[in-house]
Amino acid sequence: MTHLAYDAYRRLERPAHLGPLGAGRRARQPLGRIVVRPMRLTDVPAVAAVDARVYDTPWREQVFVEHLGHSRYRYWVAETSAIVSGYAGLQVAVNGHVTTVTVHPDYRRLGVAGKLMAVLAEWAAQHGVARLRLEVAMANHAARRLYAGVGFTSVGLRKDYYGVQKDAVIMERQMPDASLPAPVGDQGSKA
Ligand SMILES: CC(C)(COP(=O)(O)OP(=O)(O)OC[C@H]1O[C@@H](n2cnc3c(N)ncnc32)[C@H](O)[C@@H]1OP(=O)(O)O)[C@@H](O)C(=O)NCCC(=O)NCCS
Repeated sequence: MTHLAYDAYRRLERPAHLGPLGAGRRARQPLGRIVVRPMRLTDVPAVAAVDARVYDTPWREQVFVEHLGHSRYRYWVAETSAIVSGYAGLQVAVNGHVTTVTVHPDYRRLGVAGKLMAVLAEWAAQHGVARLRLEVAMANHAARRLYAGVGFTSVGLRKDYYGVQKDAVIMERQMPDASLPAPVGDQGSKA
């Protein structure tokens, strides 16, 4: 079971000290530059600490350690001012399954998840992953907006996936075929 199968929908509250959000607007400027890089074993304690803070059923450190040692998984961390502010994971086959996208409550609405998703998708495109897929709780509007904003569309529903009357939306994003030439006028990414 992945994090996306956990009851993350319970964790949508915004930290009180950040105040209420304006509709669709970022609440404050980033605290520092967001750097996304592959997760290392030495990141696991910090990542697991965030996991324990965010989820009711967090992953043990050992789960991250095992995934990091497995070629079918890829994980990235986001650092903000050298602090682990978020992380994301991908289980890779012909298609990719997003295993987790998690941002520390103190670093939300700063673009951390967006940057993690951009790096994850870029990696997937470069490694021939045809399609990305994930499940997200119907009630998790923040995550659904995040995914819709980076090109995922809803393709199905899993009834009671997170418990009784707690459905999951299945979302997918088709990846560009990296073997095809880029369309004329496509300048690529400078990131
Ligand atoms: C969902 C989550 C990963 C978003 O992380 P984040 O770093 O705050 O997201 P970003 O700042 O990159 O926001 C990107 C877009 O997502 C959407 N979004 C993020 N948080 C939102 C919120 N609370 N309400 C509405 N839309 C939200 C917005 O469209 C936002 O773009 P905008 O800020 O330009 O409006 C974070 O809230 C989280 O970790 N939640 C708990 C764990 C979880 O639910 N993970 C996903 C499991 S499927």
